[in-house]
Amino acid sequence: MAESVTITDNRTGVAIESPIVNGGVDASAWRKLLGNTWFYDPGFMQTAATSSAITELDGEAGILRYRGYPIEQLAEHSTYLEVAYLLIYGDLPDDQQYEHWVHDITYHTFIHENVRKRFMEGFHYDAHPMGMLVSAVAALSTFYLEAKNIDDEEIRNKQIVRLIAKMPTLAACAHRFSVGQPFVYPDNSVSFCANFLQMMWKVAEPRFEADPKLERALDVLFILHADHEQNCGTTAMRVAGSAHSDPYSSTAAAAAALYGPRHGGANEAVIKMLREIGSVENVPDYVKAVKSGQGGRLQGFGHRVYKNYDPRATIIKKAAYDVFDVTGKNPLLDIALKLEEVALADDYFISRKLYPNVDFYSGLIYQAMGFPQDMFTVLFAIPRTAGWLAHWKELLEQDQKIARPRQLYVGSPVRDYVEMKDR
Ligand code: CMC
Repeated sequence: MAESVTITDNRTGVAIESPIVNGGVDASAWRKLLGNTWFYDPGFMQTAATSSAITELDGEAGILRYRGYPIEQLAEHSTYLEVAYLLIYGDLPDDQQYEHWVHDITYHTFIHENVRKRFMEGFHYDAHPMGMLVSAVAALSTFYLEAKNIDDEEIRNKQIVRLIAKMPTLAACAHRFSVGQPFVYPDNSVSFCANFLQMMWKVAEPRFEADPKLERALDVLFILHADHEQNCGTTAMRVAGSAHSDPYSSTAAAAAALYGPRHGGANEAVIKMLREIGSVENVPDYVKAVKSGQGGRLQGFGHRVYKNYDPRATIIKKAAYDVFDVTGKNPLLDIALKLEEVALADDYFISRKLYPNVDFYSGLIYQAMGFPQDMFTVLFAIPRTAGWLAHWKELLEQDQKIARPRQLYVGSPVRDYVEMKDR
């Protein structure tokens, strides 16, 4: 027998049954029954806002798959650009499709000179690179006016290519400006990640050669961050996209959500915490303070969805060692390892199913590679752009209604306006 849920309106005794399909029940079935009575679900804790065929996440089992492919296999065998194609178009590309895709992305990496000279250089000298990135992505919509034609598949695909290609250029540009260094133009003869690294680090050498191990480690990090189903930034993308905003404005909305410390900023908090702990000997006392509620939370631990080890954390931990082979060990690593060991043996963390998440080791890698802390969220935004665009495309193809939730009004009942002199 098919599984179902029945809701009875106790005011009238009328009941309506709705089948459970793909793990959810269709709330529209109850619209007739409930009229102006709404489901109250702040933070969408129990709400599936859409169906999606992009990313499968099983938090209890520690599973993450893009279009059915386990994240572990993609991190081992694939590249970020191949994963971006997979997320957006649904299948792995064949060799010709891949060649075209990489070529298209590579030849759209340049940004309009006015974006750099007039827009980016107009920021205050100490502007945060993530604030610059959010604004610059929105500004791109003023350069590509045809992007408003969201119903035209060819135009849609063109903006997808532009956005994926230009994010690293905008990101590096924001960094160079914030440290007072001249802008470095994209190099179309190297890979996506090698190009980003040369735009970040090139100084006076005729050609910047990225270390292949660092190039690969960055590619793996980009694969791991490319999508994570209906997270806060992706939801922002879908909400803006549902209003049929152009893809640049929608991506700016998603990036703005990612900017928040509860979302894209936790890896920065991990570095701050490890610095505060200071040495391996201080770890047990720090954990004790966390447990007693005196020391705040253990940053990089726990997850709303994963109640088992975050599968991305396992892969990142391995990538960290590959990076340290080149850069030398990050001195904070020993503290991180000890912290993990102590926490994973402690009943407080075991009973609450608190394990290291993706942010626990990613900050250590970024720091070892020389990225300043305020670039960490920017490094998250570059690959997440592929996920945002995959969801944007899917939303438009599903022809979804504009996102417009209801509220439970708890304010003042009607009252008459009072003149200023009588208040
Ligand atoms: N350290 C210590 N205790 C914790 C932690 C932590 N990191 N996380 C949760 N707890 C405790 C919490 O105090 C509560 O205990 P009790 O039941 O005694 O009140 C219990 O575990 C459940 O916590 P919760 O707040 O109900 O869990 P949540 O699902 O609402 O929060 C979280 C998830 C990620 C916000 C939280 O675990 C946290 O604040 N972690 C630290 C910040 C962090 O690492 N964030 C990055 C998340 S991964 C990034 C991404 O995927 O986008």
